[in-house]
Amino acid sequence: MTKNVIEIENLSKNFGDQKVLEDINLTIKDNEIVAIIGPSGTGKSTFLRTLNHLNEPTTGKITVGDVTVDAASYTKKQVQQLRMQSSMVFQNYNLFKNMTALENVMESLVTVRNVNKKEAREIALEQLERVGLLDKKDAYPSRLSGGQQQRVGIARALAVDPKVLLFDEPTSALDPMLVSEVLQTIKKLVETDHTTMLLVTHEISFARDVASRVIFMNEGRIAADGTPDEILSNPTDKNLQQFLNINQY
Ligand SMILES: Nc1ncnc2c1ncn2[C@@H]1O[C@H](COP(=O)(O)OP(=O)(O)OP(=O)(O)O)[C@@H](O)[C@H]1O
Ligand SMILES: [Mg+2]
Repeated sequence: MTKNVIEIENLSKNFGDQKVLEDINLTIKDNEIVAIIGPSGTGKSTFLRTLNHLNEPTTGKITVGDVTVDAASYTKKQVQQLRMQSSMVFQNYNLFKNMTALENVMESLVTVRNVNKKEAREIALEQLERVGLLDKKDAYPSRLSGGQQQRVGIARALAVDPKVLLFDEPTSALDPMLVSEVLQTIKKLVETDHTTMLLVTHEISFARDVASRVIFMNEGRIAADGTPDEILSNPTDKNLQQFLNINQY
């Protein structure tokens, strides 16, 4: 039996009076590639960010890997440990402008994981090679295209060898011309790596292509959850049908 790598119980998140996530319950097994789709403002980013406490849940229990944080009562140390379980690829890359590609990939290995510099450098070079950017290792972000910057972001996320990789619309800030190189990089990872991935994306045909499971979020809830075929080819939920129509899928 494959074990669960993520378990979420009764998760909710309010911003002031606004209920953004409402009673989410979800388990994700090791090696699953989960695409999360849904209308804008529906809580997809907020959801992803609760998994590493970048957003603090209002209620609920989050387990990633072997660490559980219960919103009712937790310690700083538990949050630190939770954050070590996953790593995130952001829409806007979030690279340090004053560091080279190599230094960006090494940074959290050295500062958060206490890996020594020599070893961190080796790991970082290996990950840059995986995303096809070894020749750009000494370039600063301003000298890289958006697609290259995002591939550095992916190398950085991979470098810490997380149990779960989280992608929040990794291609939506890119020029249309640069989208496919990033999608190809992610696709290659899915084929060669065995990391569990959660991928918020508006690239629905990409979701169909790479995901083993698709989740449709609507108004802070999981409105549909199934195989790409169930969700994208035979949607039963009315809001999902409408969403797919609007997105011309
Ligand atoms: N830090 C915050 N403070 C207050 N409200 C927030 C905050 N972050 C998000 N929200 C609100 O929570 C709701 C959900 O936002 P979220 O960014 O999770 O949506 P999303 O599904 O990722 O949308 P998109 O597809 O546009 O990225 C929105 O109404 C947003 O305004
Ligand atoms: Mg978002």
